Amino acid sequence: MLPREDNDLLTLVGPDHPMGKLMRSYWIPALLASEIPEPDCPPVRVRLLGEDLVAYRDTQGRVGLLEEHCAHRGTSLFFGRNEECGLRCIYHGWKYDIDGKVLETPAEPAGSTLKDKVRQVAYPCKEAGGMIWTYMGPKEKQPLLPNYEWMTMPAEKIYVSKSYQDCSWLQGLEGECDSSHLSFLHRSFTGDRPRGGGDGELYAADTAPTLEGIETDYGIRMLSCRKVAADKVYLRVSNIVMPCHGFIPTGGVKGNPEGYTIHSHVPMDDEHSLRFNIHFRRNRTIEPDERQHDEEIGPDFVKIRNLRNDYLIDREKQRRENFTGMGPIFLNHDACATETMGPIYDRSKEHLGVSDMTVIGVRKFLLNAARTVAAGKEPPHVIRTKEQTDVRHVACIATTIPASRDPKTYVVEQLKKDKYWEA
Ligand code: FES
Ligand SMILES: [Fe+2]
Repeated sequence: MLPREDNDLLTLVGPDHPMGKLMRSYWIPALLASEIPEPDCPPVRVRLLGEDLVAYRDTQGRVGLLEEHCAHRGTSLFFGRNEECGLRCIYHGWKYDIDGKVLETPAEPAGSTLKDKVRQVAYPCKEAGGMIWTYMGPKEKQPLLPNYEWMTMPAEKIYVSKSYQDCSWLQGLEGECDSSHLSFLHRSFTGDRPRGGGDGELYAADTAPTLEGIETDYGIRMLSCRKVAADKVYLRVSNIVMPCHGFIPTGGVKGNPEGYTIHSHVPMDDEHSLRFNIHFRRNRTIEPDERQHDEEIGPDFVKIRNLRNDYLIDREKQRRENFTGMGPIFLNHDACATETMGPIYDRSKEHLGVSDMTVIGVRKFLLNAARTVAAGKEPPHVIRTKEQTDVRHVACIATTIPASRDPKTYVVEQLKKDKYWEA
């Protein structure tokens, strides 16, 4: 269980709260690049860290992220006209560039200097990995963007999706921390390989894995070990990467050389979040059946199976097919597990066990980071130098190793090998 004060510290993301300040120390995913696909296309709404914003792509292809309400008298810029390198409010025609500079105030008399005295709140944006990233912290502290290997993948090798989560960002992130739920929530009874790959029989072979969280410069490296035979251990290595990302091995034991999957749980506000799924394959095109979420998420980013329709649970299938009766897609299982806790789960009510070791470790790491920021210091994994952008040591592994081997040493050896995982 977690004291109420710590629960608040971890979940409240407004600008005056430590976790809000922590989130505002990093570049975070804001929207899919495909939502604003071309110059002068319609703007879209974005809610992040309790702020209502509007994203648009100007005539030169540059992305702006502005406060939604016009600095003049508050009309929503979502309805604005995107024209000639600026977003123009439909009420009195004020026009803003991507930096929030007021370009024109056409309802004012000629020679008016009003436009020079006003600025729209605007956050800088960068495009990488199929997403638009933004930094919402103080200008003078703007860091560099880390160079995860998937940030520069060509479009055919990366698949990105986004869905709304009806709960705090932390509930989503904590779902990345306990490997033990793979043996239940995501387990199939029919022996089918989970869609998109996976090691179903290995998840089932040992339902009480040994978990270990190791603190690193980027967050927590998490090891889970399942004893799947007298002399064999199934080892999974995943990562919590600051401030809100889970890096997960996917595709099962055979999938290591191909790539991995990232789940980013970005707070929209205290009680809602975005889940970005980034799936990449290093040396091949993404297969159609890996574009798993196309049929699961509506064009409005609301999941077809959601909290309001009980995730379309099929009780008969729950008896015969898998734990959830909600089909094979992990996204829906995870959503049901985390959203049904309520908008912000009161962790003072929980009863933690050994299977929650890594959840506890991640919370501790995040609490320390939030307190560090609150004390005016720099939290972990804020990238300042070119060298620090090299983050190839964030490795994901799913493999079997001899029971006699020390998993930690094994992981270190693998990391020392080539640039990325070698089978
Ligand atoms: S409210 Fe936007 S121009 Fe007047
Ligand atoms: Fe999960």
